[in-house]
Amino acid sequence: MKHGVNLKHRGCLQKVEFMKIAILPGDGIGPEIIAQAAKVLEALRREGLPLELEYAPIGGAGYDASNDPLPDATLKLAQQSDAVLLGAVGGYQYNALPRLLRPEQGLLRIRKGLNLFANLRPAILYPELANASSLRSEVVSGLDIMILRELTGDIYFGQPRGVRTLDNGERQGFDTMVYSESEISRVAHVGFQIALKRAGKNGLGKVCSVDKANVLDTSMLWREIVTEVAKEYPTIELSHMYVDNAAMQLVRAPKQFDVILTGNIFGDILSDEASMLTGSIGMLPSASLDANNKGLYEPCHGSAPDIAGKNIANPLATILSLAMMMRYTFSHEDIAQRIESAVRKALQQGLRTADIAEAGMDKIGTDAMGDAVVATLLN
Ligand code: IPM
Ligand code: MG
Repeated sequence: MKHGVNLKHRGCLQKVEFMKIAILPGDGIGPEIIAQAAKVLEALRREGLPLELEYAPIGGAGYDASNDPLPDATLKLAQQSDAVLLGAVGGYQYNALPRLLRPEQGLLRIRKGLNLFANLRPAILYPELANASSLRSEVVSGLDIMILRELTGDIYFGQPRGVRTLDNGERQGFDTMVYSESEISRVAHVGFQIALKRAGKNGLGKVCSVDKANVLDTSMLWREIVTEVAKEYPTIELSHMYVDNAAMQLVRAPKQFDVILTGNIFGDILSDEASMLTGSIGMLPSASLDANNKGLYEPCHGSAPDIAGKNIANPLATILSLAMMMRYTFSHEDIAQRIESAVRKALQQGLRTADIAEAGMDKIGTDAMGDAVVATLLN
């Protein structure tokens, strides 16, 4: 394939003996939820899957260990691995640090350092959780959309940025929204490829490109390039939507979407919004891929320091991220589906962490949910 992420095969990997996975638990609930995903990996290893796991600190844990939210050794490990599994970063104790030392920098730098430009955030409503969504069940039942967020450009990384002092002595903060043609077209290709792949399942493939082309020059270029790329995918229907309307449509009628293709900042915001359609942000996995399907996999939720260490966090987004790893980096669709169906079965058994429990349902802890998924996986 000429462009973007090859979603089918990473041929060379078929021959590699070990699947080398870097595990970066991070901060807050990160270590607890990662521990559950690690149980799944250990179970697969016991079955004979050739896994090699290595742990390293990132975020606040990196800062604590070596004064750097992305220690050199962590980046090196990630570069030498086939895939990275990440928990979450951030914590109250780091809030006063200068921006470049904050835990979030670890995440932004590893995404940029590994060139992970394509961020896949699927929002799928499990039927068992139809009543956990804040929207009426008929609005969300059967929901299956994919948000594709560009991850290494935009106002997140644009220069110049900073805080300057104006002639009148007042300070002014500024950031730069920027996208080059090649950045737009490579992520657009990934978006259309995903739509093609999903079309097999859902009939007609659709890409809705989300921008703010009525106001921003960056978005006008975005729209022009996406429209050009679309010509190479005649079976996929392309539409464009302004981001404010998209935010509204996502809660009004979310099932109108198939693949949403958007930039870094709009994708950040819309994916949090979409997560609530599925009942809980604790259910949303993500994959961040480079052009060769090397990937970093992490739950979409953050480090939730308020509930850290209490054994109440939902580990399913992390376990589902592992399924995405098996699918996209290792081309093990079978294992991906096994993990996803183990999660389904645990939900079918009525097992719920606090965030997805309906009134009157028993709640189980992080640990117990991890054990339950392993048990159903092995069944
Ligand atoms: C996300 C997060 C990150 C982002 C933060 C923690 C830097 O919100 O992955 O969506 O803004 O990308
Ligand atoms: Mg976010």
